[in-house]
Parts: sequence; C-alpha cells; structure tokens
Amino acid sequence: MSNTEKEHKNIPEHVAVIMDGNGRWAKERGQDRVYGHHAGVLSVREVVNTAGAIGVKYLTLYAFSTENWNRPKAEVDALMELLVATIRKEVDELHKNNVRVHVIGDFDALPPVCQKEMQEAMDMTAANTGLNLILALSYSAKWEILRATRQIAEAVKNGSLSADEITDEVFHSHLCTSRFPDPELMIRTSGETRISNFLLYQLAYAELYFTPTLWPDFGKDQFLAAISDYQNRERRFGMTSEQIQPSK
Ligand code: IPE
Ligand code: IPE
Ligand code: MG
Repeated sequence: MSNTEKEHKNIPEHVAVIMDGNGRWAKERGQDRVYGHHAGVLSVREVVNTAGAIGVKYLTLYAFSTENWNRPKAEVDALMELLVATIRKEVDELHKNNVRVHVIGDFDALPPVCQKEMQEAMDMTAANTGLNLILALSYSAKWEILRATRQIAEAVKNGSLSADEITDEVFHSHLCTSRFPDPELMIRTSGETRISNFLLYQLAYAELYFTPTLWPDFGKDQFLAAISDYQNRERRFGMTSEQIQPSK
C-alpha cells in the first residue's frame, strides 16, 4: 500500500481535542495568558482546515470547561469575548467550507451575547454537509452524565421508559453528543496526561494521544502526526490480535 493510500485509509471519523497550554505558551514569552488564547485561535483554524481536508467528519474541540468558570474573572471575560469575536470573524469562511457548527455543554450558562453568536453560527451552517465542528463550551462530562441520568430517571418515573430498557443506546441518546458517533481518537496538547472531565462516557474506547506541544504551537503537521500515530495502532476492543488480523 502506498503512503498516500494509507493516509486516506483508516482516518478517524471523530477526533476530540483538549486544546491545552495557551497560558504556558504566553508565559514563556513574558506575556499575559490571554495573549496565548489569541494565538491558540490560529491553531484552531489550522486544525479545522486540516481535519476537513483529510476527511474527518466530526471534530470536537474542548474550548471551555465547567471548571474554567473558576479562573480569574478577567481571564473568563477575555475568553468569552474571544469566543464571540472569533466565531463572528470565522463563520463565513466556515460556511463557505461546508462546515457545520455545533455546541455541546451548558449553553444557558454562557453570556447572552455568546449564546446569540453561537446560535447564529449553528443556524447559518445547519444544512452544511462537510466537517461537523463541535465546540465544547461550559462543558464537563460529569455535568452531562448527571443531566442524562436525571432525564432518564424522569422518564422511568413518568412511565415512558422501564429500567431494563436503559441500554447504551438509550443512555447515549440523552448525552449532548447524541447526534455524533463516539471519538476514535482523543488528542491532548501541553504534556498533561489527564482527561479533565472531557467526554468521559464517549471516550470509553478512544485511542488517547498526548503531546508535549503547547496548543498555540500545534498545527497541520502536529495534527497529521497524531492521525498517523492513530493509524499505526491496533484497536482490539477486548479481543486478541489474531482475531483482528487472522493472517498474523
Ligand atoms: C487551554 O489553555 C485553554 C483553556 C483552558 C481555555 P490553558 O489556559 O489551560 O493554558 P495552561 O494550561 O494554563 O498553559
Ligand atoms: C482543560 O484544560 C479544558 C480545556 C482545554 C478547555 P484545563 O487547563 O482547564 O485543565 P486542567 O485544569 O489542567 O485539568
Ligand atoms: Mg490548561
């Protein structure tokens, strides 16, 4: 198989990314943390373009966690402003590139102007059929799982669902990601090797890729390196290697 063929084979359908390290990147340059967040936007653009170009169908970006609300107010405000400014600036280009924008997380917790801008981007791109760009905003997996559990408990209580009907499929349908397949690959930048409350249910069998590269230094080449690493892994799902590749 040629390298090009290999590159186009086995592209993960869904890639999830914990974009981490903006603050440290800025600090290394003697700058304010917000400077790092601004630089990180360029990485977002490059990764979105690269993911779309190689045929990834879903790209989930962890942009702001529930826990991030606990950061100093000035940083939280700057991040929300940056979010609004970025989506405003990028939405036409995303639309032109057939990208569909989605948001997962506690939407109501976002500032009204941010909700409005995100809603407009989602509406504008709703019919697009290319890359699904899923922004995790005010998102945490525990929040999501507890919310799903409450909804299911309510359904059992009002008799529309029985306890033994609670399958993986039913549970999945109550998650924010009900419309998306689970990620096959999760990338985290900045050298931290933790999940930080991201997609705990959906990442059950994902391949995890950790890189010391700080998010503002992460771009096309680094994304392709992560994809290539993924392509060289054997996903066994509890089976043996011989079952996966009988000729071995
Ligand atoms: C990731 O970079 C961006 C957000 C969490 C919003 P950080 O801001 O966490 O940067 P570090 O980890 O402090 O370097
Ligand atoms: C995770 O990064 C959240 C996002 C990238 C949005 P953090 O920097 O907030 O995670 P911790 O605090 O290092 O776990
Ligand atoms: Mg961080």
